[in-house]
Amino acid sequence: MYAEKVLSGMRPTGRLHLGHHHGVLKNWIKLQHEYPCLFFVADWHALTTDYDEPGGIVDSAWDMIVDWLAAGVDPTQATLFIQSRVPEHAELHLLLSMMTPLGWLERVPTYKDQQEKLTHKDLTTYGFLGYPLLQAADILIYRADKVPVGEDQVPHIEFTREIARRFNHIYGREPGFEDKAKAAVKKLGSKRAKLYQELRTRFQEKGEEDALEQAHALLDEAQSLSHGDRERLFGFLEGGGKMILVEPAVLLTEAARMPGLDGQKMSKSYGNTITLREDADSVRKKIRTMQTDPQRVRRTDVGDPTKCPVWQFHVIYSSDTVKQWVQTGCRSAGIGCIECKQPVIEAVLKEQEPMHERAQVYLDDPQLVRNIIADGCEKARKLAQETMRDVREAMGLDYS
Ligand code: TRP
Ligand code: SF4
Repeated sequence: MYAEKVLSGMRPTGRLHLGHHHGVLKNWIKLQHEYPCLFFVADWHALTTDYDEPGGIVDSAWDMIVDWLAAGVDPTQATLFIQSRVPEHAELHLLLSMMTPLGWLERVPTYKDQQEKLTHKDLTTYGFLGYPLLQAADILIYRADKVPVGEDQVPHIEFTREIARRFNHIYGREPGFEDKAKAAVKKLGSKRAKLYQELRTRFQEKGEEDALEQAHALLDEAQSLSHGDRERLFGFLEGGGKMILVEPAVLLTEAARMPGLDGQKMSKSYGNTITLREDADSVRKKIRTMQTDPQRVRRTDVGDPTKCPVWQFHVIYSSDTVKQWVQTGCRSAGIGCIECKQPVIEAVLKEQEPMHERAQVYLDDPQLVRNIIADGCEKARKLAQETMRDVREAMGLDYS
């Protein structure tokens, strides 16, 4: 059975924090058991905005990878790699640039938004305009089916789908497509071939979407098909040419409810984070000095948890019993704030304990991390090279 592939990338921003863990990494860790997953460091994307101060990229990348591993991303399950170590991404980006209308790039909302937000930078560059196209290349080069991202990235995935569709439309018609598609139908075996034909007719003549879905399922289960034939049959269903690039779907990552130490969203730029591998003393100190309900000045004042960032932590970390204890104790001044913070401190430390343990192995022997990445890059490159062969051929660059 053809397994759907998941791919996602993260720009190297240095040490990750608990917001990343609850927002992104827990999701990756769940997905790695369900699909073949590819996770990579988008270091070229970092350069699109930080081209004038590139110093920290490499260190940030290694730190971030150790954080992934510490959080439980499992290199025996998922493929971990670094974008710039798979130069095929750049080749696909270049080739796709030939057929990408400028207007499509200018209309991607992050283009103007980021320029307005990062006013201290000159982002009227060729590279920054191409940010979504580089991202499209990252995704399309692996024929990824699903891309887990947050809300802010949805327009980039939409854009990627449009690029794939345009590419298949322009380059998907190989010479003799109809004949090759018909030969591929025969290879399904007579029973499946008959069903495929029926479903195709129902979709093409009556536009029945569920016939299309059933046909997709049928092709997913057909084990013996070569990649080329499978793609031909997908293309043939919808009447077009061969589907060379795959349109990916968004797997929307729910916005992390992880608050920062001050009650705003946890974010490096607000300086309100607890890093994934923060040492225990620092965690204790940060939580002990956290703001509480501003109305609760003295120990004898009653408080309101809904006005207190500590309560937000209880929502994430505490059992119902503890939450009840906080609600009652705070509102009646039955407990003090230091007392109230203690279970939060313990829960955060407990969550971090296995992360410290896993990270220690890699800190003791950094070569392990290098090997994981070397293996991942090699695997990724093989997949990328397969797609590039088809892309080059489709674009008339087959010199073999
Ligand atoms: N733009 C993404 C972000 O800022 C990072 C990224 C680059 C990415 N390439 C990707 C995410 C491909 C998913 C798939 O978060
Ligand atoms: Fe916040 Fe807890 Fe203090 Fe109430 S008792 S103000 S919830 S820290």
